[in-house]
Amino acid sequence: MSSLLCGSIDLEERGRAVSFRVQKEQRIYPAFVVRADGVARGYLNACAHVGLPLDGRRGQFWYLDGTYLGCVQHGAIYEPNTGLCVRGPCEGLSLIALNVVERDDNIYLEEEQYLLVTE
Ligand code: FES
Repeated sequence: MSSLLCGSIDLEERGRAVSFRVQKEQRIYPAFVVRADGVARGYLNACAHVGLPLDGRRGQFWYLDGTYLGCVQHGAIYEPNTGLCVRGPCEGLSLIALNVVERDDNIYLEEEQYLLVTE
């Protein structure tokens, strides 16, 4: 299943994330997509520590200079291309990645398990 998330132009390198929601079975999850090293990366917005949103719902996912994704809750730091926590209370654990693809100047969610919530 392929669902349009945003235009390619909406995702600047290590710039503002685009947030969206997905559904798996009966549960709805917040999610986001960012661009890192030219590639769109999508993750559930649920920290590997205790599952809280990384951005505290403020839309800021990058830590300091934009090298890493950061969780505002208790300071976990994630490598943006893999979602691996490299420092903080959940070091060694990872964000749940979503399959995101870019084609024809758009970014799409292509997932079997997580469906885009559109309303
Ligand atoms: S919930 Fe992210 S570091 Fe605790």
